[in-house]
Amino acid sequence: MIPENQGKALHAWQTSARYWDKHRVLITKMFAPLTSALVEEAQIGIGQKVLDIGGGSGEPSLTISGMVRPGGSITYTDPVAGMVESAQAEASRRGLTNIHFKQCSADALPFADCTFDVAVGRLSAMFFVDPATAVREALRVLFKDGRVAFAVWGPKEANPFFSVIADVIDQFLDVPPDSNVPDAFRFAVPGKLAGILEQAGAKNVIERKLNFQIEAAISFEQFWQLRTEMSETVREKMARVTPAELPAVKQAVADGVRRYFVNGTMSFPAQALIVCGRKTARSSS
Ligand SMILES: C[S@@+](CC[C@H](N)C(=O)[O-])C[C@H]1O[C@@H](n2cnc3c(N)ncnc32)[C@H](O)[C@@H]1O
Repeated sequence: MIPENQGKALHAWQTSARYWDKHRVLITKMFAPLTSALVEEAQIGIGQKVLDIGGGSGEPSLTISGMVRPGGSITYTDPVAGMVESAQAEASRRGLTNIHFKQCSADALPFADCTFDVAVGRLSAMFFVDPATAVREALRVLFKDGRVAFAVWGPKEANPFFSVIADVIDQFLDVPPDSNVPDAFRFAVPGKLAGILEQAGAKNVIERKLNFQIEAAISFEQFWQLRTEMSETVREKMARVTPAELPAVKQAVADGVRRYFVNGTMSFPAQALIVCGRKTARSSS
């Protein structure tokens, strides 16, 4: 049986799926630097068999599909039906034939030992129910010396794209944030996810800080719509804002992010960690 917290989290991702699909073009553009960094660190190339863990609306699977051809393939996984459907529909629209889909959770991968050259996860590791088990699973399904690489967000203060709306609403509602809930910043502390990889027996574990800009040619109104739809945390907080408070909340957010909107372009500084390791004999099952 799925524990209540996990069921609630997956239900929230199911609601998010329709918005991640709706905003897919923007999301692909904004987070493309993360895909490039993962591809580089994991040394993804032609002919490889790659696993994507927590692929959401389709990235990085859809991009990697083109990079491993000819001869290579990408297996997309995600536990949320709506996400799998969205990614699958997009792959069909693009006529991609070397991409396979499996609905499953990171901590129980339905693949045999030694199946893939590389395993990647973009912005998903923070939401794994049991990250240590998930990392062991990722290593198990890799060939010996295979690489695993995860992209996770750095500290909240370095990521105003995510923090401004939530912080403004918290001030209005006067509620302290709950630090025990797994959220986007769960692995922001340097060494935390790397330590889990090392404990699972990975070798050559490295952690790279990636500073980049989250950029797109959108207005504040479009940013507001994107953020209030795609994030469960923000949706939950917004539900507690009264209609009377809403204009003031929106104005405070607009004031807080004004400096990131110049000449019709949004550009937020952002920081992620790319954590990568390799499978050894000890980490094989
Ligand atoms: C922030 S989204 C990232 C999606 C995509 N990789 C991207 O970068 O656009 C996080 C994803 O993690 C997935 N997820 C949540 N719990 C998970 C679990 N236990 N195992 C694997 N993926 C999970 C969610 O369904 C969601 O699609």
